[in-house]
Amino acid sequence: MTTVNKKDILTIISPDDFHLHLRSGNILKSVIGMSASQMKRAIVMPNLTPPITNTNAARLYREEILSVLPKGSKFEPLMTLYLTDNTKAYDINIAAQTDFVKAAKLYPLGATTNSDNGVSDIKNIYPVLEEMQKVDMPVLIHGEVTRHDVDIFDREAVFIEEVLVKLVHDFPNLRIVLEHITSKDAIDFVLQTSKKIAATITAHHLLANRNDMLVGGIRPHYYCLPVLKRSNHQAALIKAATSGNPKFFLGTDSAPHSKTEKQSECGCAGVFSAPNAIELYATAFEKANSIDKLEDFASKFGADFYGIPYNTTTISLQKQTTSIAKEYKFSDLTIVPFMAGQTINWRLV
Ligand code: DOR
Ligand code: ZN
Repeated sequence: MTTVNKKDILTIISPDDFHLHLRSGNILKSVIGMSASQMKRAIVMPNLTPPITNTNAARLYREEILSVLPKGSKFEPLMTLYLTDNTKAYDINIAAQTDFVKAAKLYPLGATTNSDNGVSDIKNIYPVLEEMQKVDMPVLIHGEVTRHDVDIFDREAVFIEEVLVKLVHDFPNLRIVLEHITSKDAIDFVLQTSKKIAATITAHHLLANRNDMLVGGIRPHYYCLPVLKRSNHQAALIKAATSGNPKFFLGTDSAPHSKTEKQSECGCAGVFSAPNAIELYATAFEKANSIDKLEDFASKFGADFYGIPYNTTTISLQKQTTSIAKEYKFSDLTIVPFMAGQTINWRLV
């Protein structure tokens, strides 16, 4: 068990981020160093324009990421494919033969940022899921229905009822990660289902609820999908993350968008937490009197699920009040981080 020493220093195995948006081009160049200085590896989301739908595109994207890493960085991008209505079992078979494509991502059509090539009906990818089950490649799921008649706060729960229950029944050996879970419904489902299903939890869903986004004014930098829920769901997420159950592990869903795109008439979804990700999680775990559970959640359970070794390096966090930047100004854009201008209780040493 990890403990905090007399100097208020917590040392843990280097963490991995099992759900990260890095984008490409200039945004990638601007943000990559932030994750690379915190995380040893990351599962990199494929929702670029155009999306990363095959192994060749994943190879090129990986090379782009490696080419812009800070000098000396040992950060390892683990790549994913974006599933569309046209993905073929063959695409999975090819990807499974590489050592760098680790999973494929299912975005329901229209569910979130860059999901217009997402899957319109899960039946369309049944042969693909069959192949994923066969080659034992995890499917990463954005678990929300998109029907207009379903309230945005219920979309995760309805997805579980209408899609996931049947999916788990039809593919009992398919490994599934229900990504960025936000509700007690999702936690209960993951707990009650076979060990083939796990979930990532973001720092922002541990540290905030919908009041933080909506009381006293609309705060666009808290807007993400799935949207923040009410506080009882936040409490359930904190309990799950700090429970020591290996089905729950770290995935920041850090998703950079420019300040102007966020603060517009129709602001886009995404919370940027990469600069302080591990400190944010440490703050949430300590608030729950569970800092001793951070290492398992951040550095072991995800690796166990993906079947990759633990990192051999460590990081240290010091308990110290730390201010989060108000914004990050890059040459051609400004990005506002989660909890901009606020303080947290930990700092990466
Ligand atoms: O808030 C979100 N932003 N949720 C997602 O699922 C996608 C992400 C993005 O790519 O910006
Ligand atoms: Zn995401």
